[in-house]
Amino acid sequence: MLPESVAMTPLATGERKQCTVCIFGTGDFGRSLGLRLLQAGYEVVFGSRDPKNRALLPKGSKVMTHTEAARTAQVIFIAVERDHYEFLTSLTPALEGKVLVDISNNLKRGQFPQSNAEYLSSLVPGASVVKGFNTVSAWALQSGALDASRQVLLCGDDPQAKQAVVNIAHSLGLTAQDRGSLRAAGEVEDIPLQLFPLWRLPLWIATGLIAFFFFYLLIRDVIYAYATDGKDISFRIMISLANKVFPIVSLIMLALCYLPSVLAAILQLYHGTKYRRFPDWLDRWMLCRKQLGLVALALAFLHVLYTLVIPIRYYVRYRIAAGTIAQIKENTTKPFDNTMAWRTDSYYALGMLGFGLYVLLGITSLPSVSNVLNWREFRFIQSKLGHVTLLFCTAHTFLYGWNKFLRASSYKWWTPPGYMLSLVVPCVVLVSRLILIVPCVDNTVTRIRQGWERPEVK
Ligand code: HEM
Repeated sequence: MLPESVAMTPLATGERKQCTVCIFGTGDFGRSLGLRLLQAGYEVVFGSRDPKNRALLPKGSKVMTHTEAARTAQVIFIAVERDHYEFLTSLTPALEGKVLVDISNNLKRGQFPQSNAEYLSSLVPGASVVKGFNTVSAWALQSGALDASRQVLLCGDDPQAKQAVVNIAHSLGLTAQDRGSLRAAGEVEDIPLQLFPLWRLPLWIATGLIAFFFFYLLIRDVIYAYATDGKDISFRIMISLANKVFPIVSLIMLALCYLPSVLAAILQLYHGTKYRRFPDWLDRWMLCRKQLGLVALALAFLHVLYTLVIPIRYYVRYRIAAGTIAQIKENTTKPFDNTMAWRTDSYYALGMLGFGLYVLLGITSLPSVSNVLNWREFRFIQSKLGHVTLLFCTAHTFLYGWNKFLRASSYKWWTPPGYMLSLVVPCVVLVSRLILIVPCVDNTVTRIRQGWERPEVK
């Protein structure tokens, strides 16, 4: 008997499929698609204005006039620019009943009042137009599906036509997702034009917080020293200030990753049901938690790098040398402070543990890693270990503050130090989470999430 792994592995037979696929257009995308189709066993026929010129076309493909090519296949990929679609009107009889796959993209969003696919459909009403393959690049088709997005988003009004395109996508090793009727074509055409849509909010939050804390700390630390003592310590902007701003923003953003799930639980408790939609802003916030966390991790990483250079800084070496010389001159020895040793070691240790878990959270959020975890494992790491990470980082900051919380001199110009402000959101999240895990509250949330509804809600 064959070993199980062999018996269960589907094998590519390399047999020629009987189906012929036609491609109008011999540009980059058309050629890459043709090559890929040939490799998957399809007959490929190119429709060209100049059928005698077959330079660069993949070996094994045929090239004919548009009309001849259209007659050979049921599915025709339109790999020409929208501006040239009008020539298709002269081919209307040959295109009657065919499936036309519109793969085009635009240069900017809303470039035309009507989507390219709808425009194509209006030019050739006798054909079934399917929008698709515009989210896959020519390069991805050439270099193998694993190297770039493998997802083909499809939309169209004819289910059979869509199914024919889905079958082709699957045989090329791509996944297909149905996006509905041809009216969705505009949305599908806009997808390749979007620039990191899920990163936008996290990057705005990070930029806003960095700008706020930079100016806040600049006033408190640098301008205050100049205004009250006439001391110029502006050199601190480069490392000391940056090494405050980055960890402060990182800690707040880490807490912002866990705040929406707390708010969601509170809303579910309040409404007594899980069947009520969350507000849009909460939905959007939840969707970009991974990106929030990765930006926060990058800032924590910067904090660690900045911390590493502390011992080699000129200013720090000068302070150590000056302190030693002062003790020699005064013939005194500063006694070893056991409490201080405990405090510094503890906050370094918590910082390192927090950072270690932070990195683990970042790694497990990558698709290649998260794909090999089951839902329970993923939730355990992202939710349980995530809260432990937040706890460690918060404790690291509390220990860093130590007794400075009670010192009047910490509140320059009556403002609290930056790290105190950074503790507000993490503390709100941790305390709320603590309340939410009290058994009677936790049981109610769990029941609601399993579908139970409070009687008066039903
Ligand atoms: C402050 C070390 C990880 C958040 C500090 C300081 C040091 C330090 C030496 C004092 C900096 C100064 O004197 O200006 C470390 C080490 C870490 C680590 C060695 C791990 C290898 C983290 C992580 C976070 C974090 C993961 C969470 C995001 C903070 C905050 C402050 C701080 C908020 C206070 C900044 C200020 O206002 O001065 N850390 N840290 N640290 N750290 Fe960390």
